[in-house]
Amino acid sequence: MKPLDDYDRWADRLEDEARKVLSSEEYEHFAAIPRQGRHQQLKELLQAPIVRFSLVNEVFFRARWSEALQACRCPSRAFVLEVASGAEDCIPQAMARTHPESRYVSANLNRQLTQGLRSRTADLPLQVEVIEDDAKNLGRHLGSNQVDAALFHHGVNDVIQGILCDRHGIDTVHCNWMAVLPEMVALLRTEAAAGTYEAHVKGPFLGLVRVLQEILKPGGTIAMFHFPYQMDLDLGYPPEIYKNMIPITRCWTAELSGIGEISISGFDPQWWLFLRKE
Ligand SMILES: C[S@@+](CC[C@H](N)C(=O)[O-])C[C@H]1O[C@@H](n2cnc3c(N)ncnc32)[C@H](O)[C@@H]1O
Repeated sequence: MKPLDDYDRWADRLEDEARKVLSSEEYEHFAAIPRQGRHQQLKELLQAPIVRFSLVNEVFFRARWSEALQACRCPSRAFVLEVASGAEDCIPQAMARTHPESRYVSANLNRQLTQGLRSRTADLPLQVEVIEDDAKNLGRHLGSNQVDAALFHHGVNDVIQGILCDRHGIDTVHCNWMAVLPEMVALLRTEAAAGTYEAHVKGPFLGLVRVLQEILKPGGTIAMFHFPYQMDLDLGYPPEIYKNMIPITRCWTAELSGIGEISISGFDPQWWLFLRKE
């Protein structure tokens, strides 16, 4: 499998980045890991699929999104939307360091995970809001041409899982997401085996991207980052879909007009997709 990123580049800067993107308490824990151990964790992370959750992951994801926000040309007072954040806070954590005068809004459906996001971001020096609605309905909450960047941190697969759950009447809003995950993965497997995956997913997914396109400012960017977790593969996620989430999404979004892919050097097209609104 392709590495998630360039190990040598990140190994050189791991300690500096950790100082920038971790809180002092987090940094103390990070610094307590022997240097060799930190670098071994970095190597494993970038080799993907991701097995371990650690502070090294936090450093990489926060620092990488800081770079991605720059690549998206976010101004210092940016309006950034994240789709399907769950409780994951690496984007607001990055913004609190690089874009503290900005507004971060997450569109997130699952109630428990929203609670998690709220508590993880409560003390950040950043304006954080959650719209507890399906991102396909964002037009009801936000006007046209407002958002600088709409971001997916490992969220494309979640949106797709949500689309299939809606189709099969499975509640993903008032549930324990991890408890329902095996059922979601089983649905995906069934759809893939029956050859109905694309027919059932592509239309609603592109509908959601069109909504994002409408609320983006002209020149605004959609950035999608996806990478494999071993846990999802172990649950039986069809690997050809899961590992190629971005290349598949790229083919679908190429059909859209008024928004098109931009290539940004240093971001591997296997794992990243950037779309810029005209
Ligand atoms: C596993 S969680 C978090 C994913 C996270 N981005 C990560 O790091 O893996 C998935 C979240 O996506 C949300 N979600 C899925 N489809 C959505 C949609 N169409 N609109 C809003 N939230 C959505 C779910 O409600 C859930 O909270």
